[in-house]
Amino acid sequence: MTLNLGVLISGRGTNLRAILVAAAERRLDARIALVLSNRPDAGGLEVATRHGAPTQVLPHQGYASRAAYDGALVEALRARAVDTVALAGFDRLLSGVLLKAFPGRVVNIHPALLPAFPGLHAQRQALDYGVRLTGATVHFVDEEVDHGPIIAQAVVPVRDDDTEETLAERILAEEHRIYPAALQLLASGRLRLEGRRVVGGLP
Ligand code: GRF
Repeated sequence: MTLNLGVLISGRGTNLRAILVAAAERRLDARIALVLSNRPDAGGLEVATRHGAPTQVLPHQGYASRAAYDGALVEALRARAVDTVALAGFDRLLSGVLLKAFPGRVVNIHPALLPAFPGLHAQRQALDYGVRLTGATVHFVDEEVDHGPIIAQAVVPVRDDDTEETLAERILAEEHRIYPAALQLLASGRLRLEGRRVVGGLP
């Protein structure tokens, strides 16, 4: 099934670019129906426009609650007939409102091997802890931060001389590889959820 994909961003949009390129090259059976940013200055908006994808800015300020903002997100996504939502550096927590509107169809990418190092600054957390291996995780989103069932992971070594920046860059290269691949698994309909386990995911 061709995904009608909504991509939520807040920043520079390199994962968004990887998704757009994969779709253009037919490695990903998806139409990017909407790129939505909560921040008007997100660099990813230009990335989307360069690739001919529709964009919308929906600032999160001024809503009475997280649920109210999520209601506006759902409306914007539905207006473009979005059936699958990919978070790509979106810096807002989601409420159940969005998750209930797209059950089992909201995914996220995180720059660590979950369940290790959820939340902000995952690369710094990995360096501070002293792990020798870290990586990237694509997972279904639930109401806890960086927590839902895992679809794909990739392992990245930590080098002695790594800084947060060099490690982030090495992880990012893997993010760009596994995010489109995980979305393609979703498009192919091959994934199945058994409890917390995703059957048919990538190693
Ligand atoms: C990525 O590291 C992603 O894993 C995290 O936010 C960052 C977004 O980067 N959730 P970009 O905007 O896709 O370049």
